[in-house]
Amino acid sequence: MERTWIRDTIGQVGNRVKVAGWVNSIRSHGKLVFVDLRDWTGILQVVFRVQNKDAYEAVKAIKPEWVVEIEGEIRERPEGLINPQLETGKVELEAQKLLVFNSAKTLPITIDTDGYEIDEEKRLRYRYIDLRRERLQKNLKERQRVIHFMREFLIDRDFIEIETPILTKSTPEGARDFLVPARLQPGKFYALPQSPQQYKQLLMVSGFERYFQIARCLRDEDPRADRQAEFTQLDIEMAFIEQEDVLSLVEELFISLVETLYPEKKIREKPFPRLNYQDVIKKYKTDKPDLRTDKKDANELAFAFIVNFPMFEWKEKENRWDAVHHPFTRPQTDNPEEIKSNPEKILAYQYDFVLNGVEIGGGSLRTYKIEVLEAVFEVLGHKKEEFRRKFKHLYEAFQYGVPPHGGIAPGIDRFLAVLLNEPSIREVMAFPKTGDNRDLMMDVPSEVSEEQLKELHIQIIKENGKED
Ligand code: AMO
Repeated sequence: MERTWIRDTIGQVGNRVKVAGWVNSIRSHGKLVFVDLRDWTGILQVVFRVQNKDAYEAVKAIKPEWVVEIEGEIRERPEGLINPQLETGKVELEAQKLLVFNSAKTLPITIDTDGYEIDEEKRLRYRYIDLRRERLQKNLKERQRVIHFMREFLIDRDFIEIETPILTKSTPEGARDFLVPARLQPGKFYALPQSPQQYKQLLMVSGFERYFQIARCLRDEDPRADRQAEFTQLDIEMAFIEQEDVLSLVEELFISLVETLYPEKKIREKPFPRLNYQDVIKKYKTDKPDLRTDKKDANELAFAFIVNFPMFEWKEKENRWDAVHHPFTRPQTDNPEEIKSNPEKILAYQYDFVLNGVEIGGGSLRTYKIEVLEAVFEVLGHKKEEFRRKFKHLYEAFQYGVPPHGGIAPGIDRFLAVLLNEPSIREVMAFPKTGDNRDLMMDVPSEVSEEQLKELHIQIIKENGKED
């Protein structure tokens, strides 16, 4: 007999079915034992009666979280016994056969609550159990729905999804890189990508005019509620477009996503306001203002674009100019002399995407003229030659016919956390890391064998300066 998902038992009244899953709870009333069985589609009440001798005897041994299969008949519950809390609350399964696949130890954390009250280190140590809780099951399913919608929306508009390398080179986002030693080139390292930024620009040179990727990004940063070392972007790049083309695409995507998948949510303002960076800073003292009218309303979504960022910012400590976004951002002038003589006055075609006080995306149009790029790098203090070396591939590629292009990358984790009213992006990720970048479940990072180190030509120097 084929297994029936618990959700589908509702339509099976009078039929014999086989269900399987985890024992959610057991209530024994002498000659009657009730088991709530859980699979990933729901919970079903199963009744074991003394008359069904084999099943009744077998159920006496089982405990919560055992993994079982039960066969029996789906019955309608009498009027007074309907449980409105359960999706399957109008029916129950009259058990005739019980098969135990596996027993289970008592769980180290409870899973019948939201889990916020449990010590987070413990939740992360036993994440595979933590993920059994309804809230996290739901969050990961919502994540899937949102990503699916984004994919379909973009593919429908002639975008192509292209995967880019994970073993690569430093990117211009400006956070710390994770490095990977190259066994075949002793002394050399790959960097894990902080974003697919350079690849997506190179794809524009290749003529893939509309690119996207559900892209994993890696930055060696200290994690916080809205930051992880590994996170996911909806990475987008387009050729022959202006700033407004990017903004209106993202606007259309997020409006139709929310209105289709989350009709209970209210978008505060459509089209999304485009706010001037300087005005926003003056008015709200932050570049990610929370524009909700009622901050207690869990269903209000206040999207906005912040535009006209300055191209450069002065780094007092390092006594130098830095790019506010990244050096490939296009200044709002393509006059190299103007860029070099008045860096503080230059605005950029750069935009942030903000939702309820959270920066959920950022992007820019890119410089596609070599002389502008060189002027920008001069302001940043890089010698031209150094720039040519570090970004040689881009520099070179830009000499073989580069279209005007630009893009954006909404952070999927941050968007989901706001959408699902979660206090941290960890709640919308399957296996997040702790505040000091550890995976407590896998015990990562971990030591590696002498042999592996040798192969990689790596020697560990301990903090006291002695070699390991
Ligand atoms: P940026 O660095 O602004 O732009 O990142 C874009 C968006 O990614 C999300 N994000 C993060 N989410 C979780 N944890 C992190 N550590 C983290 N860092 C960033 C944010 C942010 O707005 N290549 C450019 C995009 C472009 O220009 O097209 C980029 O990565 O939501």
